[in-house]
Amino acid sequence: MLCTISLLLALTGLCQSALISKSHKGDDPLLQYVVNNSLREHPVLTKLRLRTMEDSKNLMMVAAEQAQFMANLAKLIEANKTIEIGMYTGYNALNLALVVPENGLVVACEINEEYVKIGKPFFTEAGVEDKIDIRIKPAVETLDELLTAGEAGTYDFVFIDADKKNYETYYEKSLQLVRKGGIVAIDNVLWGGQVINPAEDDLSSQTIDKLNKKLHKDERIDLSMLTVGDGLTLAIKR
Ligand SMILES: C[S@@+](CC[C@H](N)C(=O)[O-])C[C@H]1O[C@@H](n2cnc3c(N)ncnc32)[C@H](O)[C@@H]1O
Ligand SMILES: *[C@@H]1O[C@H](CO)[C@@H](O)[C@H](O)[C@H]1NC(C)=O
Ligand SMILES: *[C@@H]1O[C@H](CO)[C@@H](O)[C@H](O)[C@H]1NC(C)=O
Repeated sequence: MLCTISLLLALTGLCQSALISKSHKGDDPLLQYVVNNSLREHPVLTKLRLRTMEDSKNLMMVAAEQAQFMANLAKLIEANKTIEIGMYTGYNALNLALVVPENGLVVACEINEEYVKIGKPFFTEAGVEDKIDIRIKPAVETLDELLTAGEAGTYDFVFIDADKKNYETYYEKSLQLVRKGGIVAIDNVLWGGQVINPAEDDLSSQTIDKLNKKLHKDERIDLSMLTVGDGLTLAIKR
């Protein structure tokens, strides 16, 4: 179903930079079963998800079950400092803020202030606004600022989910920012199935496919490519 949606949007040209994300449960009964029997969504996350559904770009939102999986990963590795690259309305930024400790941190990168405005009240309502450091500017600039500030090797978890053309740059900078054993999670690595045979004019698919192949050989990490959502790669720094 999701593939169908992505393909349809691609065909109609809407997908160019639409950053189609995910698995919105839609009509897949098995995925609905998974969600019915495992999702434990914080009440404020539920509110933010429903509010986000009113936005015309809501397909960009991370799938709730995928966010929950990432929160569990963050807990497993006792993540304290995290980065969200492409926060949109902040579903996953809030999701991470809810599992990092009291003095923990989510650096949330976003270029569109309108999206940030939607999410912020929910951060406050959940009582975690102090943990979320929102940086409204191109994410590459924010990552460079963190590196310049001497924060290389101090982050535990990064979620890459912004513009595809910068994916490789985000990956390289994120890998510098995380500690050994830290995780760089990369979203949309299957890109609705279009990575298998990227069309000549399909730069997003080509970029993602190239990055997937690079990571497969990358000796600096251990990795898994999961078929959750629109494809999620976990790169664990060695
Ligand atoms: C797929 S959405 C992110 C969804 C989000 N992770 C969530 O939890 O729902 C991608 C976001 O990246 C943002 N974005 C695009 N280019 C960017 C850039 N150069 N720097 C920062 N954010 C960017 C878009 O405005 C959009 O909100
Ligand atoms: C999931 O839950 C909804 C709401 O309770 C229900 O209508 C649906 O049949 C359930 N689907 C599955 C596959 O469990
Ligand atoms: C967690 O991160 C904060 C910065 O946000 C830092 O002050 C604190 O020392 C870190 N705690 C641990 C246990 O690393």
